[in-house]
Amino acid sequence: MTMELTQTTQIKRVGVIGAGQMGNGISQVLAQSGFNVIIMDVSDASLKKALGTIEKSLAKLFEKGKLPEHPPVIMSRIKCTTQLKDFADCDFAIEAVSEQEELKKSIFKQLDEILPAHAIIASNTSSLPITRLASSTKRAGQFIGMHFMNPVPVMQLVEIIRGHATSENTCQLTKSLAEQAGKTTVFSQDFPGFIVNRILMPMINEAFFTLMEGIASAEDIDAGMKLGTNQPMGPLALADFIGLDTCLAIMKVLHDGLGDSKYRPCPLLKKYVDAGHLGRKSGRGVYSY
Ligand code: CAA
Repeated sequence: MTMELTQTTQIKRVGVIGAGQMGNGISQVLAQSGFNVIIMDVSDASLKKALGTIEKSLAKLFEKGKLPEHPPVIMSRIKCTTQLKDFADCDFAIEAVSEQEELKKSIFKQLDEILPAHAIIASNTSSLPITRLASSTKRAGQFIGMHFMNPVPVMQLVEIIRGHATSENTCQLTKSLAEQAGKTTVFSQDFPGFIVNRILMPMINEAFFTLMEGIASAEDIDAGMKLGTNQPMGPLALADFIGLDTCLAIMKVLHDGLGDSKYRPCPLLKKYVDAGHLGRKSGRGVYSY
């Protein structure tokens, strides 16, 4: 093996860090496309839950004739671990843990020591600067942003973010890996929110201002945007789906990173998060589940 990967055919094994909704979706689409995947999470319970979620999603897709293989064959390509050291033979690693910069950096530092020299590290961060995350490793040329959308098995897009030092080879291999996983890619420079969240989150934030100012009920705001602009979900329902804490964290990144008051997080969004009403995952957000 050379020090640098040149083709995706050399990517045999992909490590995914984090077994949450993004991590399990990413693992699923890669295993579906023939890659061997190892998922790492700190708790056995999260890993077990992730495997259950993947099984359910594969069963749905299989029923509709959307899978080339039987689900157990795909499942046999997924392994689990609670130890990062089991990534020693991975050619590509994708980090999908929660949006805490220090946690991510400590994972990247360890990965940099454990992974083979040729391996690429990608972060699924929704808004943290790739250049800053890359600086926690000694392989900034082989470090990139690979932002999948939720729910990963259904959404077509992967946003690819070049850090300041990301090599062209790393960009092309990442694009090719995403395409092999059935996704369409777009490239973004490393600026707060990249493309999708730069535009989506201010819309969601504005929906909270619209609700806070009593302009309309949550149901009417969502129906207005859903039926009036052909979106699959209204912005408040989408915020509950994404997680209100995640939406707030991204608004803070936009506000801090771009320094413009138009990105100030809506006080009502903050209030929901303070109350622990985080959306679907906590059973209650703007709506109750
Ligand atoms: N695995 C497999 N199939 C799934 C699935 C999963 N995890 N989730 C949904 N599906 C399938 C369903 O089986 C269904 O298939 P059919 O049409 O063949 O029956 C289809 O997807 C639609 O699902 P539902 O009927 O359950 O519900 P829906 O029509 O409301 O669609 C949705 C659900 C796909 C989530 C749709 O509402 C949607 O696209 N919403 C917007 C999602 C979105 O914008 N995501 C991006 C968020 S931003 C982000 O992720 C970035 C960030 O950093 C915050």
